Amino acid sequence: MLRVSASEDFDWTKNDRTSFYYGTFPTGFSWGAGSSAYQTEGAWNIDGKGMSIWDAFSHKKGKIFLNDTGDFSCEGYYKFKDDVSLMKDMKLNHYRFSISWPRILPSGLTGEHINEKGIKYYDDLINMLLENKITPIVTLYHWDLPQVLQEKYGGWQNITMVNHFNDFANLCFERFGNRVKNWITFNNPWSIAVEGYETGEHAPGLRLRGSGAYRAAHHIIKAHAKVWHTYDMQWRSKQKGLVGISLTADWGEPVDISNQRDIEAAERYIQFYMGWFATPLFNGDYPQVMKDYIGRKSGQQGLGASRLPVFSPQEKSYIKGTCDFLGLGHFTTRYVTQRNYPSGLGDSYFTDRDLAELVDPQWPDPGSEWLYSVPWGFRRVLNFVKTQYGNPMIYVTENGVSEKMLCTDLCDDWRMQYFKDYINEMLKALKDGVNVKGYTAWSLLDNFEWDEGYSERFGLYYVDFRSKTKPRYPKASVQYYKRIISSNGFPNQREVESWKRKALETCSSSNQLLAADPLIGHMEMVTEIVVPTVCTLCILLSAVFLMFLLRGRL
Ligand code: NOJ
Repeated sequence: MLRVSASEDFDWTKNDRTSFYYGTFPTGFSWGAGSSAYQTEGAWNIDGKGMSIWDAFSHKKGKIFLNDTGDFSCEGYYKFKDDVSLMKDMKLNHYRFSISWPRILPSGLTGEHINEKGIKYYDDLINMLLENKITPIVTLYHWDLPQVLQEKYGGWQNITMVNHFNDFANLCFERFGNRVKNWITFNNPWSIAVEGYETGEHAPGLRLRGSGAYRAAHHIIKAHAKVWHTYDMQWRSKQKGLVGISLTADWGEPVDISNQRDIEAAERYIQFYMGWFATPLFNGDYPQVMKDYIGRKSGQQGLGASRLPVFSPQEKSYIKGTCDFLGLGHFTTRYVTQRNYPSGLGDSYFTDRDLAELVDPQWPDPGSEWLYSVPWGFRRVLNFVKTQYGNPMIYVTENGVSEKMLCTDLCDDWRMQYFKDYINEMLKALKDGVNVKGYTAWSLLDNFEWDEGYSERFGLYYVDFRSKTKPRYPKASVQYYKRIISSNGFPNQREVESWKRKALETCSSSNQLLAADPLIGHMEMVTEIVVPTVCTLCILLSAVFLMFLLRGRL
């Protein structure tokens, strides 16, 4: 249930939610920033890379805001050396990035062509990170399935994907595992399943309501378990690394904490979100509440079996315990209350939960529509993981906030506030006894925010997408995060209170640089069009002139 134990002085029921805790993180706590392949690399068809479902999806009109694509994005494929310098300057301990499956296996399959140029790109990136003492945390699947596998097999709807993914992972262990010790199989499988196969907002854009998401998730969980076993059997003793998964989980708070129905609805919200994946991996099966609700509603629909697939006893024991650490992506919180959805009226993942989500209009909402800043929810979700799954090792793999496209102000005080408050709640959770080992700010750079295109910017660094060279500019939050890192937390009130002021002093000069940038961008365009044209004209004129001269002589 939602009630969790906490030591007296950190008990949130007694502690003011907005109180600030001064203190530092344990020595060795790892600070990082994150990215993903499709969101940052660009170079979508370069050096033998195959198509991914996101290439295909974003190239269709009407799928992405302003029909933007990740074709070029931040050009991270070419600029990774500059980006490692940015990380070094921030003194990051780790960098989380993902490997594009079709970049190294264009057809998705190991039996066919292995693209050595793609392998070299990741080799160079990993080596560069290690030379700079930055630990790579590598995600194998951040949503960019090879398009061929979607077309041939229907992607994650098909059980054969388990073996294909395992082959791809095995290749990555073989080629990179001597240097990479922290592997994440899947990033946010909730989103892959629900947005890819239920609502269709994400690639591959399928709308298989009420069953597509459950089937995709079932195969993803099996694929994760298989990869964990492959690592365990074939690589662990040599490479001595860890294999985890990254789950995204918002917190769900009962609207009325004294109302049992609200408490149960909030519990369902979390179980249908993180529990859907975490419970099989840690405890061996789907959460009971999912089995009950989806089973009952499937029966009312007249279906012979539940729309939620079933694990056999052998599968349960194979899947249980396949997480060396839990990666946690957390951004926001919802209030939750009970709401009945009668069965038969368009059953879906969302109606299966019988709940309604609410937000407090006073919560700050600086960027993405769905992202309200509610720092105290972070501490709760971390404690929930501790009590539900036996206090596993946690790496926060994503946490951050966006701003709207039109906002080009590098003095991002709302982001500094967000990081300050969320990281402080994580510190409180550590004091509660939660086993958090590292924190990853999302994201290093502004990048392609999926169906929102470039309209929502999560980066610590601003990227000028209008310019061909995609220059990066530090936002004030870079300075702020740097201070948190160098102090390993929040040493004392006097010091922490000076950080924002100091960070804001530096961002105005970057603002001026950025303001000047449209001119530079324009000049580049002029160079491209005018200079070649003028040159061609000059050559033509000289030729004509020469002909006249020659004629005169003859
Ligand atoms: C989670 C996803 O993993 C990441 O790719 C995305 O950019 C962030 N959420 C923000 O929406």
